Amino acid sequence: MNKDNPLLPQVATVLDITSETPDIKTLRVAGKDGLPFEFMPGQCAMLSIPPIGEAIFSITSSPTCRECLEFSIKEVGTVSSALHDLPPGAHIGIRGPYGNGFPVDDMKGKDLLFIGGGIGLAPLRSLIGYCFSNRDQFGHIDIVYGARSPADLIRKSEIKETWPAEPDTSVYLTVDAENPDWKENVGFVPAYVSELGFKPENKIAITCGPPIMIKFVLQALDKLGFKPEQVITTLEMRMKCGVGKCGRCNLGPVYVCKDGPVFSLAQLNELPAEY
Ligand SMILES: Cc1cc2nc3c(=O)[nH]c(=O)nc-3n(C[C@H](O)[C@H](O)[C@H](O)COP(=O)(O)OP(=O)(O)OC[C@H]3O[C@@H](n4cnc5c(N)ncnc54)[C@H](O)[C@@H]3O)c2cc1C
Ligand code: FES
Repeated sequence: MNKDNPLLPQVATVLDITSETPDIKTLRVAGKDGLPFEFMPGQCAMLSIPPIGEAIFSITSSPTCRECLEFSIKEVGTVSSALHDLPPGAHIGIRGPYGNGFPVDDMKGKDLLFIGGGIGLAPLRSLIGYCFSNRDQFGHIDIVYGARSPADLIRKSEIKETWPAEPDTSVYLTVDAENPDWKENVGFVPAYVSELGFKPENKIAITCGPPIMIKFVLQALDKLGFKPEQVITTLEMRMKCGVGKCGRCNLGPVYVCKDGPVFSLAQLNELPAEY
């Protein structure tokens, strides 16, 4: 972050753009000297294309990857469409890192249960990569990931090949409806979490996905005996400044851009139920 002006973007170069699904692309972005800034898993950055606009996105690469930042971006409107259309080599503005990130130190020595839906895998992937790079600091890793259809799963080679081959790691994939090409689970993510019956002892659950998925995942985890302190999620409010100045993202006394977007369920239970 620019210390004199935290709102000032720096110029970055889009190294390449990969199609993940019909509406999600991953951009690899580098600053003048490689990484535009240091960050921790769960933090975000504002990407801008003057004069089109600016939007916030989770950094999906691990901080242990030193050559660039990666963003998986779903095409929903003005900025995301413009980012999808960029050619490799294009210049964009980038500012960050913003947000608190995942409480990595509190997770050390614990088993981790990642639960993601659709584009919600983006921030989880940064933490998953960090854990794989620091494998001896974490216990068993379970990853439950789902999307509407096989075509809507992101990071297909990682979720199907790379991650299941990591030590002490289990990956469970699901899609919403039957598909002739699909041999794994069929059903919604929260139901699959219940069916898999994860035990809460010495475990932290981290979930990110569409609000409706998160709502039912939280209920499923509660039924499995997870306490609110053991459950971490991220909030997606509308944001403008990213640094706690404009008041666009506040929830009671909390600015989601600065104090979040990562919260434990215990912290969320203390906030006004507006999210
Ligand atoms: C902390 C955080 C992390 C995010 N990480 C990612 C990510 O990794 N990948 C990704 O694809 N997107 C992410 N988003 C969402 C992304 O910032 C928005 O989709 C952004 O508006 C896209 O800009 P746009 O100009 O393309 O869309 P716009 O043209 O601004 O909006 C398109 C449509 O989406 C609606 N919309 C915009 N923002 C939000 C919002 N926050 N909540 C609900 N509806 C909204 C608008 O009302 C409009 O209908 C994140 C958002 C937050 C707050
Ligand atoms: S986005 Fe401006 S205060 Fe959070």
